[in-house]
Amino acid sequence: MDVTELRAEFPILQRRVHGDRPLIYLDNAATTLTPKSVIRRLTSYHASGTSNIHRGVHYLSNEATQQFEACRAKVKSLINAQHSSEIIFTSGTTLALNMLAQSLGQQLIGAGDEIIITEMEHHSNIVPWQLLCQRLGCVLKYIPLTPNGELDRDKLSNLWSSRTKILSVVHVSNSLGTVNPINELVVEARKHSAMVVVDAAQSLGHLLDIDVQQLDCDFLVFSGHKLFAPTGVGVLYGKKQLLDKLSPPIAGGGMVAKVTMNESTFLASPEKFEAGTPNIAGVLGLDAAIDFWSALDRPAWRRYEQSLLTYASNALQTIDGLRIIGTASNKEAIISFIVEGIHPHDLGTILDLAGVAIRAGHHCTQPVMRYFKIPATARASFALYNTIAEIDTLVATVVEAQNMFQSR
Ligand code: ALA
Repeated sequence: MDVTELRAEFPILQRRVHGDRPLIYLDNAATTLTPKSVIRRLTSYHASGTSNIHRGVHYLSNEATQQFEACRAKVKSLINAQHSSEIIFTSGTTLALNMLAQSLGQQLIGAGDEIIITEMEHHSNIVPWQLLCQRLGCVLKYIPLTPNGELDRDKLSNLWSSRTKILSVVHVSNSLGTVNPINELVVEARKHSAMVVVDAAQSLGHLLDIDVQQLDCDFLVFSGHKLFAPTGVGVLYGKKQLLDKLSPPIAGGGMVAKVTMNESTFLASPEKFEAGTPNIAGVLGLDAAIDFWSALDRPAWRRYEQSLLTYASNALQTIDGLRIIGTASNKEAIISFIVEGIHPHDLGTILDLAGVAIRAGHHCTQPVMRYFKIPATARASFALYNTIAEIDTLVATVVEAQNMFQSR
């Protein structure tokens, strides 16, 4: 499939905005677009398959349950988990991390224990740990950044202690694009007997294969909507032996074995962690997205996406007064930048009027902004359906914005 054929799979790419501007969608780190096969899957569930799952005795419920569980098996294969019961469906990365912090805090972490995260985490991998530390009296430590937006690994050696219980780290930074050396970090954590949580929200969608057994991480989280699936569905992976030890963070129907007036007993994972009616349509959409994904020649598309990153970085760098924030040697197709004299929000608005959708702000990574002493960045993030011509429009419009501001 070439890029023209691939683009035809995404109907939204035919959209025009602000009158007759073709949509140039460069906000893929926020959410990826939806292919026809996923749209069809959602429509078919709503048009002819709507039903709740598990425990239903009727045809539609059995059908939906089977399809829902088939997706669990598909996610297991996607990340090479050992058991399907290690795959828990959530509403996304944020809920998965909150559930994890909550459950770990009930069993495996106590007062005085230490948690290490990094200064490049998304807020969803900071705030749940802060709340946990405040509740239990634990200590939160941060791996600092280097000026090019990598982790300062030398400083990490001083952070470990006999009380370190968790290292929770983002695989690919959503604001810098940095790919962290996750394998090496896991090996280092193991030496200190710490559990490792990997935030893979930005990595799966950027064509990085993930094998949780080879990686040997304890937990891994991701969101479907950054992987061509609908919003509102995500995954919490955990090693079976750890999930077995954890209490459910959320309680309700579907996760109990027995309820008496005084107490309840719980089912095993994954049901233990999936109280209430899940996002069934979302999970079926994720199933279709994984099929779409699995059919691609991923190494070839990864090379293509990396070529877009190189082209865009080089082209943007030719603009006087433009500075790329995040210049790690190993990056995914995410470029944060600032332009002297133009606030990123103004730049975002001018680009939008030209049909170019980027994101402007702190990208839920305020510690990153603080490190670089900037309030915000403009961020262009690419996916496999983007083109060199679209990047040319991005670059030309940034130059136009500069001219507009300089002539004021
Ligand atoms: N976390 C998403 C982003 O980086 C929303 O834009």
